[in-house]
Amino acid sequence: YEISECLVGSEMCIRDRIGGNRIMAKKVTTIGVLTSGGDAPGMNAAIRAVVRAGISSGLKVKGVRRGYAGLLEGDIIDMDTMSVTDIVQRGGTILFTSRCKEMMTPEGQQKAADICREHGIDGMVVIGGDGSFRGAQKLSANGINTIGIPGTIDLDIACTEYTIGFDTACNTAMEAIDKVRDTSASHERCSIIEVMGRTAGHIALWCGISNGSEYVLIPERAEENDEEEIIRKIISKRRIGKKHHIIVNAEGVGHSHEMAKRIEAATGIETRATVIGHIQRGGNPSCRDRVYASAMGARAVDLLLKGQTNRVVAYKNGEFTDFDIDYALQMTKDIDEHLYSMTKRLSR
Ligand code: ADP
Ligand code: F6P
Repeated sequence: YEISECLVGSEMCIRDRIGGNRIMAKKVTTIGVLTSGGDAPGMNAAIRAVVRAGISSGLKVKGVRRGYAGLLEGDIIDMDTMSVTDIVQRGGTILFTSRCKEMMTPEGQQKAADICREHGIDGMVVIGGDGSFRGAQKLSANGINTIGIPGTIDLDIACTEYTIGFDTACNTAMEAIDKVRDTSASHERCSIIEVMGRTAGHIALWCGISNGSEYVLIPERAEENDEEEIIRKIISKRRIGKKHHIIVNAEGVGHSHEMAKRIEAATGIETRATVIGHIQRGGNPSCRDRVYASAMGARAVDLLLKGQTNRVVAYKNGEFTDFDIDYALQMTKDIDEHLYSMTKRLSR
């Protein structure tokens, strides 16, 4: 739902347009920033933007190290403008990240909010994926104004067309697949390359297109992943002179090594599987990741300055925007059907 704002005394009053409910939001003076879940190239650019935008707007900024695990241990440091110098170009996250079970309990969530208050943190920016936003939702419900920024290489957040790290991860995976192609072509082999994405096939789809692969296997279209058909096509393409074959397989489909054995046995063509793994989560962020992460970091601070909470920053229909986290977490996302059907057309 959209919200309208009005000032009542020194407090910000937010009305949701559907119910007209008035939510009094506190004015923030000290904000925290943390990274949570899998790291992603560009997270540092977002941290830098939060710190610099916050300080330039008169806020105190604190960095929470190791995500919610660090928050629950009070692992919190002061951030000044120099603390984020020389990081915009670096992969990973200078604040470290983690996955934390305690944050999934009501006691942990209450404790996290209490620790924020002890450190004077009245606004928090959480950079992470859907799981991290659920934690952000709980922090918000426990009285800490909280804003999420989508940071994951998987692009699996429904409310946004862009997530920090996806662009770099695709470029890294694409370059790795180019290298596999060199050796695959030299040995006249079939190569299956498995890319990350958890249960989403976005990285696989983009690599499938950018690497000119013959097949892309994604979990969203599991029913179309017909191994018999793949085998038939490899054999018929060999007959018309194709010397090597590239198959991009999504992590969510998996079983690349077993698939390689079956394809080799059925076609008689040497087949190898390569699981790219965590290499695609590291490295210097691309220009796009640095710019979009910077814009999202600054927008998160602007939302906190307006007294808003429980929002997630997004990029949709060509512009930066934001959504209520409850609403965002209910949204669903499918693969880009246009891109998917194109892979089939172009791999003939
Ligand atoms: P991502 O944020 O990339 O989706 P995870 O799903 O691993 O990564 O979530 C990161 C962290 O967010 C979890 O380790 C946990 O601390 C927190 N989290 C996940 N789900 C919830 C939840 N339902 N309630 C509160 N916190 C959660
Ligand atoms: O969410 C990012 C991601 O890299 C997924 O693509 C992958 O499934 C997962 O994290 C791997 O997590 P971990 O580094 O904990 O093994």
